[in-house]
Amino acid sequence: MQLPWFVKHQLAATIFIIVALPKVTSLYFNFSSFQPQDEAHLLMNQNSKIYLSAIQVTPDIRGPISNYSGRVFYKEQLKLWDSQRGMKVSFNSTFVFTVSPQTSPGGEGLAFILTDDTSLQLNSGGQWLGIVNSTSIGVTEIVAVEFDTRKSYPEDVDDNHVGVDVKSIYSIQQEPLGPHGVNISGGYDVVATIQFDAKDGKMTIFVSTLGDLMRPVFMVDLDLSKLLPQDVFVGFSASTGEYTQLNSIRSWYFYSWEEYIEKNPKNLTWLWILIPIVGVGGACVLASVCYWRKKHINGQGVEEDMKIELEIKSSSNAPHKFQLKELLSATRNFHPSNKLGKGGFGMVYKGTLNDKDVAVKRISKNSRHGKQDFIAEITTIGNLNHKNLVKLIGWCYEKGEILLVYELMQNRSLDRFIFSTSGGDSTLSWEKRLSVICGVSRALDYLHNGCDKRVLHRDIKPSNVMLDSDFNARLGDFGLARTIHLSEKSHHSTREIAGTPGYMAPESLHTQRASVETDVYAFGVLILEVVCGGRKAEHKQHLQCCNNIADWVWELHGKGNITDAVDLRLNDDFDKAQAKCVLELGLACCHPNPYERPSMRTVLLVLIGEASPPFVAIEKPAFTWPATAPVLNEELNFQVTVSQNEPITELKSGR
Ligand SMILES: *[C@@H]1O[C@H](CO)[C@@H](O)[C@H](O)[C@H]1NC(C)=O
Ligand SMILES: *[C@@H]1O[C@H](CO)[C@@H](O)[C@H](O)[C@H]1NC(C)=O
Ligand SMILES: *[C@@H]1O[C@H](CO)[C@@H](O)[C@H](O)[C@H]1NC(C)=O
Ligand SMILES: *[C@@H]1O[C@H](CO)[C@@H](O)[C@H](O)[C@H]1NC(C)=O
Repeated sequence: MQLPWFVKHQLAATIFIIVALPKVTSLYFNFSSFQPQDEAHLLMNQNSKIYLSAIQVTPDIRGPISNYSGRVFYKEQLKLWDSQRGMKVSFNSTFVFTVSPQTSPGGEGLAFILTDDTSLQLNSGGQWLGIVNSTSIGVTEIVAVEFDTRKSYPEDVDDNHVGVDVKSIYSIQQEPLGPHGVNISGGYDVVATIQFDAKDGKMTIFVSTLGDLMRPVFMVDLDLSKLLPQDVFVGFSASTGEYTQLNSIRSWYFYSWEEYIEKNPKNLTWLWILIPIVGVGGACVLASVCYWRKKHINGQGVEEDMKIELEIKSSSNAPHKFQLKELLSATRNFHPSNKLGKGGFGMVYKGTLNDKDVAVKRISKNSRHGKQDFIAEITTIGNLNHKNLVKLIGWCYEKGEILLVYELMQNRSLDRFIFSTSGGDSTLSWEKRLSVICGVSRALDYLHNGCDKRVLHRDIKPSNVMLDSDFNARLGDFGLARTIHLSEKSHHSTREIAGTPGYMAPESLHTQRASVETDVYAFGVLILEVVCGGRKAEHKQHLQCCNNIADWVWELHGKGNITDAVDLRLNDDFDKAQAKCVLELGLACCHPNPYERPSMRTVLLVLIGEASPPFVAIEKPAFTWPATAPVLNEELNFQVTVSQNEPITELKSGR
């Protein structure tokens, strides 16, 4: 059945009105890096250009770069407010920038700016940061969030601060970043998020080193609709003075949405009349169409389900296909008392199938996209077989429900043991911890190097490690991250980014890609958490001083007492030499440079005592991007020769 075109159009309009009223996205874009063709989406003045996958806001040439300013904007304007409609825009923008000093000290700084005037003002270099100059100060309608690397005048708190400036370079509020663990001119990547809430008139600034937790630095009361014209451009400015630096923006995400603030309800009375009319009319049309669509889709749905089934069945070694009703009865219709917990991508229920306990994962319905990927994953996962992987017994794809059936693990997941504060019997002994680490590394080595097709896990963390009745580790949820996260990704990003903050390698923000190395990084964090007892253990106080567990352990390593990091609940009942080796291995896996991380094969060899632990620098190396491959050294040669096609059977029986 075909709907006449005018009905379709009317329908689209109606649906748009009904659905779109609560939250209208205005300007949105996402650059995960900058390539020459991105210039088409930007307005850049003559001093700025795209180079090395970043915007160089001030010149980056090998000539003099002193006394320059630069400005770059996104090409489209942002409608900031509209008093007729009682509308104000809220936004959220995250960007990564790097400031590399070229003189000592460097100068001058960089700013995120909102203004309707895109021209670069004369003599806005030096202390002016490209924001205003000595005649336009107080005149140009501009709001800036400055990242200042010079103390240019007495009111500047120091040479490393963030501040909010209105029509000037003097901040209405500023905050030094040293206490927040950030050195703007440190030459490394800094992430900033600027959240503007138009409803409350508040702007919140978050600044951190890339890879660390985002923490708010300050919040300031600000009504942009009183300070700026209706339509503005968003962008960046930067400057150099006698002292110089490279000011580059590496990635930039901007999302804004309209808020309706009823200042003048009288003007809106027409809405109160219109909404019911449009609403009722729309609802009628909607209902009839839903009915039509439902009939249509159900028919198509069955066909689709059959196609998927055929594809899965045609692969060898396929896991069993269950019928929905079997699984419904196994879990007593997903009875709440059968809930085991919320895993990645959905709820997990306990079920009983033929007197055997199983875990049934019910993938949340709104991740229905990526059917092809789903098929690919089921077939890949179904063909994997390793004693340290949770076995997928079967699956079901019926009426839009995606269900996966796994073996039930008696001791559930690892996080319950390492993050629990209760102590007592729930504390894992040192030997068990070591065996868990070995188990997970075997599983990962198998996924990376041991099976026909390399599988990345993409979401390694304690809650994805299951423990059987003998506390043997079984890695779960592998390979799925990609399929399921597909539906959650933004439409601008063609690459997937999956993972859990805290376990994500620093480079993933740039590459937006999972890799063998990002898996190794997450595994490194897992090692540290298993040995140290997790973030919520008694070490919590110490941890607050550092950004993450790796920083903290690295600091102890630097002081020569790395074993102080071991979980206090073990009451010193552990092998010091082993603990030192395992912790150093964890740090090596958390190396900021992906090329320097050991392979899972090397990790495994170290754990079973067949290789010595990799060298770990006394101080954590800084993260630099793009990362450079190390010069070929012996250790690397060793890795290359060992990691290719070595049989792993003998390793399986190791330890
Ligand atoms: C930069 O500007 C300052 C102040 O106007 C001036 O003293 C200095 O000579 C200039 N430096 C260069 C290299 O142009
Ligand atoms: C803004 O973006 C940050 C980081 O992308 C995110 O954590 C936060 O939830 C967002 N806030 C809003 C209000 O969308
Ligand atoms: C400030 O910038 C404006 C616009 O570019 C320019 O007309 C003015 O001369 C500049 N002032 C100074 C002191 O350079
Ligand atoms: C920040 O980094 C720069 C360049 O590495 C260095 O010269 C400066 O001393 C650092 N500042 C602080 C406060 O650590």
